[in-house]
Amino acid sequence: MAEKRILCIGAGYVGGPTMAMIACKCPEFCVTVVDINPERIAAWKSDHLPIYEPGLDELVRTSRGRNLFFSTEIEKGIRENDIIFVSVNTPTKSFGLGAGLAADLQYWEKTARQILEFSQSPKIVIEKSTLPVKTALAMERILNSRENGIHFDVLSNPEFLAEGSAVGDLELPDRVLIGSRETREGLQARETIAEIYAHWVPRERILTSNIWSSELSKLVANAFLAQRISSINTISALCEKTEANVAEVSCAVGMDSRIGPKFLNASIGFGGSCFKKDILNLVYLCRSYGLNEVADYWEMVVRINDYQQERFIQGMLGAMFNTLAGKKIALFGFAFKANTGDTRESPAITIARRLIEERAIVVISDPQALKNARRDLAGLEEHVHYVEDPYAAAEGCHAIAVMTEWAIYKDLDFQKIYNGMEKPAFIFDGRNIIDHRACFDTGFNVFSIGKPPLTHFER
Ligand SMILES: NC(=O)c1ccc[n+]([C@@H]2O[C@H](COP(=O)([O-])OP(=O)(O)OC[C@H]3O[C@@H](n4cnc5c(N)ncnc54)[C@H](O)[C@@H]3O)[C@@H](O)[C@H]2O)c1
Repeated sequence: MAEKRILCIGAGYVGGPTMAMIACKCPEFCVTVVDINPERIAAWKSDHLPIYEPGLDELVRTSRGRNLFFSTEIEKGIRENDIIFVSVNTPTKSFGLGAGLAADLQYWEKTARQILEFSQSPKIVIEKSTLPVKTALAMERILNSRENGIHFDVLSNPEFLAEGSAVGDLELPDRVLIGSRETREGLQARETIAEIYAHWVPRERILTSNIWSSELSKLVANAFLAQRISSINTISALCEKTEANVAEVSCAVGMDSRIGPKFLNASIGFGGSCFKKDILNLVYLCRSYGLNEVADYWEMVVRINDYQQERFIQGMLGAMFNTLAGKKIALFGFAFKANTGDTRESPAITIARRLIEERAIVVISDPQALKNARRDLAGLEEHVHYVEDPYAAAEGCHAIAVMTEWAIYKDLDFQKIYNGMEKPAFIFDGRNIIDHRACFDTGFNVFSIGKPPLTHFER
């Protein structure tokens, strides 16, 4: 049995893969991941992991049962481990002051109180969840609220992995960021955590900082990434008015080495559990410090994302003769991005709901996300069908709308699909991934984002 021990509280998209990587790279550590959700823990112990990530099955199998364990015994975990990562969820608050903007810290605070209650020895507590800057101060105040002589060091080590490429991102991170108080104990704790990552991450990629910079950097990184998507999406709207082609514009712009090509693909917009929530969190923080202009600037990133989805629906309506009532529309993809089954904040949820409002019948196809899609659209069963095979999903439909950039959609036999559809047949490519010219030649009317439409109608 390994002597050194690590606990992670929260066995989600971050806790599970991150701890699996640490267990794999640090065989002398015994890594335990605990969660309040027994079904999730049972799934982590089974052959059907609770989340889909390429390479994750193999990674978990390398260490599970050897030095990687999943459990619901939170109290025991806290008692037995002195290094505790916390990666519980921090969703947007849905009630009270800050509703719709601020982070809901109830799971976070509950965890802090549990750590305090069950600790019998000094601990390093590491914020892995994304949190508002200054949360560590609240954590410290809770942990030090009892005069029991136990010392707690609170560190910030935000996770920068992207879903869909989590295993690769964890194995070869651009950087690992560790923030701490700049006291003797804080710096010592920082080094303890840095040594864990140094098992496989080159030292020059392990950044250390003061704790507030670390907390804030995570919010800022997500805000910058989302901002690029919203920026190119505003330009896609202008392209549609001017016959410019957004793909050509983003290529020309992105080849400027000062700008770079990533996150410049125009689309129906960003989704996922983090971008929107983290920007809104940043907006709320700025407003609470009286920085209203700064808050307005970042809030526009989210508003443009909503605008882009509404524009997409209006484009579909306009192209399909201003009525969708009774028409069958296949959504190709429901996950918020390719290579994940995660549908949290997926633009496809908004699009499906808006189509149903227009009285369309929606057929949803996705290789990994149908289970989550059913949950997201619960109560709308009479308007929605779920069909994994895209060919079967499109059968008898009036239109296809591409929602997720799954590679399989690029290589479909669109002639075969076209043959089985109602005519005139439409494709709305919300990710600009399919071959528009080939689909047009097949007979489709093709509408993409930020490019002139290809239609068989006379102008
Ligand atoms: N998903 C991502 O790609 C990503 C990337 C970077 C950072 N983050 C951040 O990491 C954090 C976790 O995100 P996630 O996507 O893994 O969330 P998640 O919802 O998948 O997982 C969180 C887990 O915490 C558990 N939990 C909640 N309260 C608990 C408690 N008191 N004790 C034990 N377990 C508890 C929940 O049951 C859940 O399984 C969030 O702050 C998020 O912003 C997420």
